[in-house]
Amino acid sequence: MSDGVDVAALEALEPGAAMRVEVGGTPVCLVRVEDEVFAVHDVCTHALASLSAGWVEGDRIECPRHGAQFSVRTGDALTPPATKAVPTFPVELRDGRIIVDPTPSHPHPIVS
Ligand code: FES
Repeated sequence: MSDGVDVAALEALEPGAAMRVEVGGTPVCLVRVEDEVFAVHDVCTHALASLSAGWVEGDRIECPRHGAQFSVRTGDALTPPATKAVPTFPVELRDGRIIVDPTPSHPHPIVS
C-alpha cells in the first residue's frame, strides 16, 4: 500500500467495536474483528446513516437507523432495507497502527 493513511492506533479499537475516521476527506468506518481490522464507507447506502454508530456482530455491521447489515469484509448489503454495497478500503496493520488506503473498492452508489 503506497498511499496509506495512518488513522489510529490498533489499541484504540477494541475487538467487536467500530470507529469513524476520515481518510482523505472520506468518512470511513473501521471495524475490528478479533485481530483483523476492516474499513468500509461510513455512509449507509439506504438512507445515509453513519454505520460506525451501529452495532458489530462478527464480521457484520448493523446500521443504527433501519437495521440493514453489511459485510465488513466485502461491503455487501446482507439484509434489507439496504440493497447496495458500501465501498471497502484496504487496511494494513503496521507497528500497532491502522493504515487505510484511500482508494475505495468501487464508487459509493449514492455519495460521491
Ligand atoms: S439508513 Fe441504514 S438501513 Fe436505513
